[in-house]
Amino acid sequence: ATPLKDLAAAKGLRFGSAMAAHQLSDPRYVEVIRRECGVIVAENEHKWYVIHPQSDQWNFQPADALVDFAKTEGLGMRGHTLLWHHPRWLPDWVNALEFDSAAQAEAMLGDYVTRVASRYHPFIYSWDVVNEAVDDKTGALRETAFSRAMGPEAIDFCFHKAKEAAPDATLAYNDYMSWESGNENHRKGVLKLLERLVKNGVPIDALGVQSHSNYDMPDAFTPEKQRAWREFVDEVVAMGLDVYLTEFDVNDTDLPPDVETRDRLMAGYAKDYLDMMLSYEQTKDLLVWGMVDSYSWLQDFLPREDGVPKRPTLYDAAYRPKPLREAVAAALRAA
Ligand code: G3I
Repeated sequence: ATPLKDLAAAKGLRFGSAMAAHQLSDPRYVEVIRRECGVIVAENEHKWYVIHPQSDQWNFQPADALVDFAKTEGLGMRGHTLLWHHPRWLPDWVNALEFDSAAQAEAMLGDYVTRVASRYHPFIYSWDVVNEAVDDKTGALRETAFSRAMGPEAIDFCFHKAKEAAPDATLAYNDYMSWESGNENHRKGVLKLLERLVKNGVPIDALGVQSHSNYDMPDAFTPEKQRAWREFVDEVVAMGLDVYLTEFDVNDTDLPPDVETRDRLMAGYAKDYLDMMLSYEQTKDLLVWGMVDSYSWLQDFLPREDGVPKRPTLYDAAYRPKPLREAVAAALRAA
């Protein structure tokens, strides 16, 4: 089979996957990455809680190991993420900070973003500067210790600092845009944030559309759902932003256990979704959130009631390509 990276490159796109440092010692996983991917992104290793877990601790080792691997293998790399704007994913010591002034908060946030972004410049070609800052129920901005001191402009500030430290990297805001039917608030909140950033002249190039798709039984990717997504993406590209698909996978929590049926439904769903997203010339990257089912974060997140392992990625637990891989290949060919 033609490698996905080649199918993507033929259409001016990049194909890649998330990878974790521990997978470097799994030769079968490395082989899949080598064969299929033009780029990787660290699944967790560039996050604040890994790099700066305590105020007096810096830990670049796992991220550096992935960066060195990418360099050795001739792969490109995306960075995820300089600020996950959610207290749950910031270390406790950061959440506990009470700044006396905005300037004090800026000094700390600026130092962090500068250190991390400059360390990998110019190798990392693109950063998810800020991740998941919008509350998925209300569409309001989430609060962190930084936004409490600096206001919503903590987000703008991160982009400016990232631009200074990594002037050649493209900069994205990354979010999942809730898939829950009837909930428009998340997408509306993201649009509001993007509009403000663009209006304020913040250096932002793209929206990262995570693409953790949820197969809601029984309606799959209905015409109504597709319309809602198109309206959303139309507004994003009208602002002059590109679109990166940054974390694609399919959650099969509610699908029947029979593997053949499940794989067929998921592949059809993926094809419909990717056809739509790849129909935009502004879509530049397609990254999946892991290549092999057994490693997927979705195994622990909303596990299936029947306890059967999920099948969210392109390769099964025996490292065999699945119909989902064929769906991605077909979508790339049709792009
Ligand atoms: O490595 C530790 C291990 O030492 C410890 O014993 C164990 C006990 O909980 O935890 C391990 O850390 C886990 C880590 O993944 C590494 O596997 C964390 O608990 C777990 O919370 C963490 O989950 C990651 C999650 O982000 C939170 O950072 C997932 O792997 C990762 O796939 C997920 O990725 C996110 C994107 O960053 C943003 N978009 C959504 C996506 C899926 O949730």
